[in-house]
Amino acid sequence: MDKFVIRGATPLLGTVRVSGAKNAALPAMAAALLTDEPIILENIPQVRDIETERKLLASMGAEVELGYGRAQHRTTISCHKLLSPEAPYDLVKTMRASTLVLGPLVARAGVARVSLPGGCAIGARPIDLHMKGLECLGASIIQEHGYIEARAERLRGGHIVFDRITVTGTEDLLMAASLAEGETVMENCAREPEVADLAALLTKMGARIEGAGTSTIRVHGVSKLHGARHRIIPDRIEAGTFIIAGALTAGDLMVAGCEPRHLTSLLQKLEAVGAKIRIDGDTVRVTGDSALKASDMSTEEYPGFPTDMQAQYMVVATQSEGTSVITENIFENRFMHAQELLRMGANIKIEGRRATIRGKTPLSAAAVLASDLRASASLVLAALVADGETIIDRVYHIDRGYERIEEKLRGVGARMKRIGEMLPRREGVTA
Ligand code: EPZ
Repeated sequence: MDKFVIRGATPLLGTVRVSGAKNAALPAMAAALLTDEPIILENIPQVRDIETERKLLASMGAEVELGYGRAQHRTTISCHKLLSPEAPYDLVKTMRASTLVLGPLVARAGVARVSLPGGCAIGARPIDLHMKGLECLGASIIQEHGYIEARAERLRGGHIVFDRITVTGTEDLLMAASLAEGETVMENCAREPEVADLAALLTKMGARIEGAGTSTIRVHGVSKLHGARHRIIPDRIEAGTFIIAGALTAGDLMVAGCEPRHLTSLLQKLEAVGAKIRIDGDTVRVTGDSALKASDMSTEEYPGFPTDMQAQYMVVATQSEGTSVITENIFENRFMHAQELLRMGANIKIEGRRATIRGKTPLSAAAVLASDLRASASLVLAALVADGETIIDRVYHIDRGYERIEEKLRGVGARMKRIGEMLPRREGVTA
């Protein structure tokens, strides 16, 4: 298994470019199931989860062409024939977002058989709200042998009120409602930029949607959707991870190709701890030569502070003067990285969903273990400031959502390398 070897305490200098958003690309690829015409997606990140999604769609009979060379971030998906409307356990267990095919399959094929995702390192993460929403649109749902089977001759418009805000739940039902008969009103929706980006693609495909990006979305169902071309938004979590790397390493880093307005809560928090931030078009410049001071943080749904930046922010708290309290409001078990940071000398106390961090504490290099995607990003950040050479094991977690992170960080001065078998470079993959 691949490992990262990182020699710390090097200021990051120069420009690092952000890739397309994994969490916008995955629902966009699932949306291709809604039409028998080709969908062309640009700015698709080259990460492991995209490869899993490609396999999932191909297993249903879709033609998925992942570009290479100059077109390496373009994907063309044609679902003109759907052989089997099923998402098998083997794929769903490796990527929960596979459940995003549920709504599109029922809407397009009238039936979907999707494996239940099971537990996850960061929480139970049930998909009951996805199923409840589909029932509001007239689907009948049975659950047996670890699978959900949803059926509907044709979905019909309905009124969905989400018990709690769910990102992929909103996306799943938005796709389903696009082909339903009549109007659907969805309330207490997620307002994440990835939801609005999906709605932009669906609208290009002929869907009639109002209010995406707000808590209330109205969908006027249509009988057919057509092909489209769409550019995926930049990855705000990858951008946020690099911005924190700049702030922590007392460097002078330009994070380019991002959408600063998607990062407001993070940038405000970093300014509160003392990082110097300057926005110039699609670039955020961060210089971290000033002492950081502690500031509490609670994760919230968008536009609040993203839970996917919580682990990375915990490293900032270890390097800030004073006591910071971090409250994780979205997932019940998202402090796995704290144990590894403790091994590097951090001072952290966990009580349920609250972490109390005392800083500033010098971090020392150690052998550490990644447990999930964002936890592994926080270990990379800690290693960049630690004294000595850190070895991070199980970096396959980070490959799920960060495109060649070691090359990008080396490009701005990080002393970082990957050991073990290299992530295969793609050469003209077609299903
Ligand atoms: C999306 O997951 C993201 N994944 C996650 O990013 C992100 O952490 C999360 O939203 C929150 O921002 C993708 O977009 C592919 P939720 P999702 O449904 O949609 C509970 C990353 O690191 N819930 O908004 O699965 C759930 O358990 C990943 O890139 C139910 O109870 O998250 C959680 O506590 C990790 N029933 C809360 O709601 C449901 O049916 C929010 O989850 C659905 C969710």
